[in-house]
Amino acid sequence: MTKEEAKKRIADLTAMLQQHNYNYYVLSQPAISDYEFDALLKELEQLEAHFPELKLSDSPSQRVGGEPTRFFATVKHKYPMLSLSNSYSEAEIAEFDTRVRKLLAGEEVEYVCELKYDGVAIGLTYEKGLLKQAVTRGDGLQGDDVTANVKTIKSIPLRLRGNYPDELEIRGEIFMSLRGFRQLNAEREEIGEAPFANPRNSASGSLKMQDPKEVAKRPLDCFLYYLPRESPHYTTHYGSLKYAGKLGFKVSKNVAVCTSIGEIFEFIHDWDEGRSQLDYDIDGIVIKVNSLAQQKRLGFTAKSPRWAIAYKFKAEQAETVLLSVDFQVGRTGAVTPVANLSPVHLAGTTVKRASLHNADIIKKLDLHSGDHVFVEKGGEIIPKVTGVNPAKRKAGAHPVRFISHCPQCGTELLRKEGEAAHYCPNEDFCPPQIKGKLEHFISRKAMNIDSLGEGKIDLLFEKGLVKNVADLYDLEYKQILGLEKIIPGDEGKKEKKLSFKEKTANNIINGIRASKAVPFHRVLFALGIRFVGETVAKKLAAHYSDIDHLSKAGFEELVEVDEIGEKIAESVLNWFQKPENRHIVERLREKGVQLANAAPATPVSNVLENKSFVVSGIFQRYSRDELKTLIEQNGGKNVGGISSKTDFVLAGDKMGPAKKQKADKLGIPIISEEDFEKMIREQTR
Ligand code: IVH
Repeated sequence: MTKEEAKKRIADLTAMLQQHNYNYYVLSQPAISDYEFDALLKELEQLEAHFPELKLSDSPSQRVGGEPTRFFATVKHKYPMLSLSNSYSEAEIAEFDTRVRKLLAGEEVEYVCELKYDGVAIGLTYEKGLLKQAVTRGDGLQGDDVTANVKTIKSIPLRLRGNYPDELEIRGEIFMSLRGFRQLNAEREEIGEAPFANPRNSASGSLKMQDPKEVAKRPLDCFLYYLPRESPHYTTHYGSLKYAGKLGFKVSKNVAVCTSIGEIFEFIHDWDEGRSQLDYDIDGIVIKVNSLAQQKRLGFTAKSPRWAIAYKFKAEQAETVLLSVDFQVGRTGAVTPVANLSPVHLAGTTVKRASLHNADIIKKLDLHSGDHVFVEKGGEIIPKVTGVNPAKRKAGAHPVRFISHCPQCGTELLRKEGEAAHYCPNEDFCPPQIKGKLEHFISRKAMNIDSLGEGKIDLLFEKGLVKNVADLYDLEYKQILGLEKIIPGDEGKKEKKLSFKEKTANNIINGIRASKAVPFHRVLFALGIRFVGETVAKKLAAHYSDIDHLSKAGFEELVEVDEIGEKIAESVLNWFQKPENRHIVERLREKGVQLANAAPATPVSNVLENKSFVVSGIFQRYSRDELKTLIEQNGGKNVGGISSKTDFVLAGDKMGPAKKQKADKLGIPIISEEDFEKMIREQTR
């Protein structure tokens, strides 16, 4: 490709990708598949790598994040970023309306009601249509330059659309969707990182990270709600929002123009109820005078505009009695105090338990036994204790103390410098930690032994059959057949009986055996080494190619690996230093679990000897590669295309019709993954 051609293609790809980003992230109406999008992006990245001088300043390839920064530069805001005065009652809103009308000498007034997004305020500057700077609110006069991080947020345009001015300032709120927040926390817990307390903390923590590549992985989003400059394009606030939408910004549709106080109250009531349906947190409603001429006449106080006010929602609260406090030990050993409460009705459900978070919170609440406490439901689903009613405290009540030893294994708890949580350090022998490790090992993204979910691990652990992940591979059909357990039903639900009948026992043994085909990087993830998530495991597996090389790597060497920082390196070193862990690795090796990349398949049986297979389509339980490995491990052969010599076509969903026709014509049996499992099952008894 000539340079001229490359220039044209880069410009086309940049414009196309921008349009697709806009369709997806602003309009929520994707026009192409993720796969097609990735292919276009890859093509652009390759061209840019070849002709770096042709890369455009608004290239969508920047969305993956640039170089890390040590410090964020402090930037003075061109227009101060003021806050809003808060109100908590309808009476205060009525007072605001009276004040506004009085200052405007009885003129007609229109208001715009908007949602008050609970995130982090951001000021964006565009020059000649290109995003130049993104600055946090800071103290209102100056904030941090977080441009590199903000460029990774896909709903924020890098280039404006339509009829934009030479210079543009716009304000908005960066937030994290509830779905994104839950997923991020689940991933963090999986690798032993402390979860974020709420979506707002999670958004603000993400925005302050030094590595934009990490920020790019966080599900951040942004609503824009204020243009501080005057413009010939609009005369009202509502008009400015419409204009912002035309420039390509994400502007909320949940906005109303109101002409009476009654309409404002209606908007408030509707959203106080409706907010539980949103996929992001709001903490109130913002009411703004619509006319910009009127806004100008009303002006600002030192702290906030006179033309706007925020109405903050009251968190729904209930008062009840503290019965006792439980201390729960999680998979990572973190100990969480949980209050058992006298049942109370709150926001549509009966609350019997509420989180007390950590020792500091218990202390701050000054919680005593038998206290009357207030519970609230915040953005999180689990209710929390937010206060106590000291007037109702009984004489002689004792302060609630945090425990010093693990309630499950008796080990003395630790609290790391600067961390709020207490930990049980007995990670290899503390029951919930062992069970947690086993549950992680069998999980879908790890070894994917789904026949072992839903309490089955508990049963195997309680019967003393499985104490670590290597023990799974020693299990025999005869041992587990007939095991039983009654699972008590909580919250009024009926108790359940779990019993390993023939089919269940068979599925378990088969599932464990099939997991021997799971590729090395997923095994590495499955081991549950702290801070080694899916991505890190892939990086380590790609670099070291087998577990022996990885286990011998020193600190200096590890931190050289792409994306491996000091914290991860230390954790990997510590894990391999422990004799128990090295022993587990040896036992997994003996059983034929993949501890190297694309290792020659370890034979498991010869039931498929002299049989050739074509694997095609998408499968539910295994990936295609896993099935191919299983075929080889059981003595079979994989062939590329269907011929008269093929013995079986192993077909999943979406196998092409041409393949099916050919197989039918040649009379070759088409089998499902269940049929295939049966074929290799012989082995297990
Ligand atoms: S308007 C000059 N509109 O609430 C007024 N603010 O305490 C500019 N916020 O710092 C703010 N949703 O971070 C405005 N729809 C909305 C908002 C909103 C959330 C935040 C913003 C501001 C704080 C006010």
